[in-house]
Amino acid sequence: MTAKVFGIANQKGGVGKTTTALSLAAALGEKGRKVLVMDLDPHCCASVHLRYYPGTVSHTVYDIFMNEEALADTPSLPDYAQLWNRIINTPEDLGFDFAPAAVQLADLDGDLKNRPGKGNILNQSLECLRDRYDYILLDCPPHLGILLVNALVAADMLIVPIQTDFLAVHGLKLLIDTVKILNKALPEPLDFRALPTMYDKRAKACTKVLDLLNNKMSDRLFETIIGMDTKFREASAMGTVISKAAPTSRGAQAYKALAEEICTLW
Ligand SMILES: Nc1ncnc2c1ncn2[C@@H]1O[C@H](COP(=O)(O)OP(=O)(O)OP(=O)(O)O)[C@@H](O)[C@H]1O
Ligand SMILES: [Mg+2]
Repeated sequence: MTAKVFGIANQKGGVGKTTTALSLAAALGEKGRKVLVMDLDPHCCASVHLRYYPGTVSHTVYDIFMNEEALADTPSLPDYAQLWNRIINTPEDLGFDFAPAAVQLADLDGDLKNRPGKGNILNQSLECLRDRYDYILLDCPPHLGILLVNALVAADMLIVPIQTDFLAVHGLKLLIDTVKILNKALPEPLDFRALPTMYDKRAKACTKVLDLLNNKMSDRLFETIIGMDTKFREASAMGTVISKAAPTSRGAQAYKALAEEICTLW
């Protein structure tokens, strides 16, 4: 087993990144894959969604960036393995593992200001997890900072949820520009696929944006389209994922199809 690391990123907020991380992880888990979701957003939305409330969780991904060994710039793999063992939870019934976030992640740019190799910390720390999982999904923050850079450096591939409205295309452009800058410094360029989300076929604006995406970047677009479904909000209010809250819903079926597509491709 060598985990594929997927960054789920878009510099526009509220496009379905967290929903995709959790729903896709559950769907991959149902297919028998070993999956880890990591909450890398200081707003801790994925953590709150799964009831890992900030302030009540003793170990979070923040520890990875602030551990003393790493600060001494001599991190050794067993130390990271020990840290991850404390951070990673196996929630009952969800079918995937979860690493919660902390609000202190918001201070990371300042915390790491003078730290050499600060963009590579997460990537280094993941080495010891790669043989434990088939997929590691990174739920990224919407703003550009050291946290997003760490996620992009660690990722083998990006999934970019695009809310099918006009402004979302702007978010995609921002992210592509960021990836272009980063690719100049990466040993291998980072590839991405866009995932249309919150699609409503009755809304003209939605179909227009989907046509645009199909014309401009059909080779970089998932075949699966995630439609609008109120069951996502219901699942979140229940502290679970859509495949548990409403297994036959369109939303659950869409992420099942995405999991199929991903398992075929990677
Ligand atoms: N396909 C969908 N249909 C209906 N509602 C959805 C869908 N996908 C996500 N939502 C809802 O939209 C809201 C925003 O989604 P989500 O939190 O996944 O976005 P995000 O990109 O992670 O946001 P942020 O940038 O703030 O982290 C949530 O309330 C979620 O339940
Ligand atoms: Mg989010």
